[in-house]
Amino acid sequence: MKNASVRTTYLKEYRPPPFTIETTNLHFDLYEDHASVVSKLLFKCSGDSDVTSLQLHGQLLKLEKVLINGQLLNPDQYSRDDENLTIPALDGLLGASFKEFLFECHTRIEPQNNTALEGLYKSKKMFCTQCEAEGFRRITYYLDRPDVMSVFTTTVAAEKAKYPVLLSNGNNIASGDVDGAPGRHWVTWEDPFKKPSYLFALVAGDLLSLDDTFVTCSDREIELRIFVEEKDIDKCNHAMLSLKNSMRWDEEVYGREYDLDIFMIVAVDDFNMGAMENKGLNVFNTSCVLASPQTTTDFSFQRVEAVVAHEYFHNWSGNRVTCRDWFQLSLKEGFTVYRDSEFSADMGSRTVKRVEDVSFLQTVQFAEDGGPMAHSVRPDSYMEISNFYTVTIYEKGAEVVRMIALLLGPEKFRAGSDLYFERHDGQAVTTEDFVKAMEDASGIDLGQFRNWYYQAGTPVVSIQSEFDADTKRYTLHVSQSCPDTPGQSNKKPLTVPLRLGLLGSDGKDLPLRLLADDASTSKTDRVLSVTQEEQQFVFEGLESEPIPSLLRGFSAPVRLKYDYSRAELLFLMVNDSDGFNRWNASQLLTIGLIDELQSDLAAGRDLALPQSLVDAYAGVLDSTLSDPSVDKAMIAQLLSLPTIGFLIERSEVADVDSIHLVREFLLNGLAAKFYSLFLDVYTNNTSDAEYAADAVSIARRSLKNLALSYLMRSDEDEAVTLAQQQFVLASNMTDQLSGLRCLVNSGAATAVDLKRDALASFYKQWSHEPLVVDQWFVVQAVCQLPGSLAQVKQLLEHTDFDIRNPNKVRSLIGAFCGQNHIGFHDASGEGYEFLADQVLVLDTLNPQIASRLLTPLTRWRKFSAKRQGLMQSQLRRIKAQEELSKDLFEIVEKSTI
Ligand code: TRP
Ligand code: ZN
Repeated sequence: MKNASVRTTYLKEYRPPPFTIETTNLHFDLYEDHASVVSKLLFKCSGDSDVTSLQLHGQLLKLEKVLINGQLLNPDQYSRDDENLTIPALDGLLGASFKEFLFECHTRIEPQNNTALEGLYKSKKMFCTQCEAEGFRRITYYLDRPDVMSVFTTTVAAEKAKYPVLLSNGNNIASGDVDGAPGRHWVTWEDPFKKPSYLFALVAGDLLSLDDTFVTCSDREIELRIFVEEKDIDKCNHAMLSLKNSMRWDEEVYGREYDLDIFMIVAVDDFNMGAMENKGLNVFNTSCVLASPQTTTDFSFQRVEAVVAHEYFHNWSGNRVTCRDWFQLSLKEGFTVYRDSEFSADMGSRTVKRVEDVSFLQTVQFAEDGGPMAHSVRPDSYMEISNFYTVTIYEKGAEVVRMIALLLGPEKFRAGSDLYFERHDGQAVTTEDFVKAMEDASGIDLGQFRNWYYQAGTPVVSIQSEFDADTKRYTLHVSQSCPDTPGQSNKKPLTVPLRLGLLGSDGKDLPLRLLADDASTSKTDRVLSVTQEEQQFVFEGLESEPIPSLLRGFSAPVRLKYDYSRAELLFLMVNDSDGFNRWNASQLLTIGLIDELQSDLAAGRDLALPQSLVDAYAGVLDSTLSDPSVDKAMIAQLLSLPTIGFLIERSEVADVDSIHLVREFLLNGLAAKFYSLFLDVYTNNTSDAEYAADAVSIARRSLKNLALSYLMRSDEDEAVTLAQQQFVLASNMTDQLSGLRCLVNSGAATAVDLKRDALASFYKQWSHEPLVVDQWFVVQAVCQLPGSLAQVKQLLEHTDFDIRNPNKVRSLIGAFCGQNHIGFHDASGEGYEFLADQVLVLDTLNPQIASRLLTPLTRWRKFSAKRQGLMQSQLRRIKAQEELSKDLFEIVEKSTI
């Protein structure tokens, strides 16, 4: 793509399609050097608009012939460019008042050379597809837009020995051997549900399946099949269990039953994202399906559960009700992320899940919203839609749905989702239709609330409190504002649901009686609707000044400003009835202390370990050692300092070195202070019970391994030995990898040989497991010791590194640039140059991955002038290249100044 020719697509240009495609009949013949595709489409004119031409999407296709109503077209009856096939005079071919016609085309593609992993491609020996968002047009000519929904019938033919399994969407309706082609066979699949082309899928390979069944609420038996390579067949049980749990949950919580008689998942090695919800045939990145105790960490077990649920939930929120156009992407993604996060909360610890989600949002989404790529949940323009599969569309979109659920309450929210699914089943709709269904079912006006969909940027909510002992009134002065973002200024006020409580001096929640309430109100936790730029809420009947617990459960995705004293934060950490806010208080306390220490450092003062942090840690450690029933995952969260990524995001100008130094100072100080308590925590939480991936066991391991990481900071030989022993003796990947990570990050002299040997033996043990080798790359890429960039460069040459495999790229280059802040932001700028080099190589192979990988360089605004200059110059170097993909061009165009 010549950079100058990249076009912007605008929402305001949306027009309904001139045609519908009633039926889509596809025939694939798969060979090693090409695939031929025959497509027969029954077009109908939609409405009474008199269209006279036909324009279809198509990219990188070799066209063999086109027929209309069985009549072969001459090349002068159509024209083609890089993106379209156009038949200018349909009326000439069909007569003036045609209503429908049959379009047939024969094309050829080269899946074996498709490194972009869009359309039909090969992952190792397997054929597979990825069509969302606009990949179908790389398979055949089509109206490749989500508001064109068709019934698909697909025949796949291939060599029987190499590709015994041939799959597509829906039901297998016929199969046989190919006449006249010995050794080849075919299968025909029919999907009775109308769907847009982005949900089409095809798989051909030598696969085994784990099979099970699920009986739905109306007593239908569904066949469940997870297809993987033979070597992975023992790693499918967790995904299968997650699938069945998801199916039950969607029936119970949303009243949604599965519709087809079969549900299939296929695992592939080379995949641009986590997974894809193709109707009845989900395609998954192996990293999001496979799980076994020996090869998979607890984190990945939970990710498998969440992604299986996410894709399954799309069957209703995405497939049965789909998007009218790609500006509506959050309609399916925001809602589905909300649904999967609630599912995970129900499967494990609700508070911990909320803490994890909010930390992620505050670190990654807030950064996006404050950077050059900021966009609203419902954007109004894009150059390349693949660039809009973002944390804003997904995670902020989920927060917006969460706020609707909070404002409506559980019953009305369920009535709203019922109405939405019923009203729009089989349709392609907009976020506006979603909000309207919520309004209609609940009677609650969401007029101003809609601004959440249209305005980018993270709103700031500032609160000041005032207590009047005479009147016993407590007033909260609330103000809101939202910063300008690219192309958007002067933002309107939003409806911000502010959930809160007020604590008395005994730590108990007080009744919250607003001036306007009737006297009997005794609620101690309520949701205030903040709707104006400046607003006051006056609470009555308070004997003494309360301590406010604000934005409980993170009830809105905003930056909250309230000036808590250190004593108040310590009080909230212990007493708040809202678990999320207990955690948040601990974060606010540490952030304040880190800020202060950064000032000390800048002023050349000696650093001292703050007593309030010592007190807080002592309290938390005591609670876990004295009461084994407390949630250990929560304890692990409370004993973790905010990440460097989070601290960078909330800085005005982030001084990475100072953040890192202060954070290390605190961690080392706490480790030394509490060595023996951490040792107790470690010992108490060591277990030789058989591995289980339940929430309690995962929590126990997370606390134990956190304790180990503190112990390691002591440089005691005892600690190094513990890590080494855990590494060698571990019966599961969580413990083994923690042991390895501890050794690799250890600065102790005694660890030098141990870490080299551990890395070598780990690789030797697991070189046959690609997903474990990925983890081996990650551990080295995120190592906090000096020299990590050199190490990463060396690992690029490793036989197992493959730049064509997205998981490998993410594990090595992505992890270094995105998570190893101290390495990536090295003052020399070498980290930036390295990323630009890699992105340029990748752009010629896989533009989606190249543009995603570039993200850390687009965050330049957060850093000092010197670093900004270094980052900008790498962005400009990329922009100066003659030919960039649309994907990469959009990002560099928008993030250079
Ligand atoms: N719809 C998928 C999901 O969120 C996202 C997805 C999978 C995707 N593969 C993709 C998006 C490739 C863009 C390109 O579940
Ligand atoms: Zn999704």
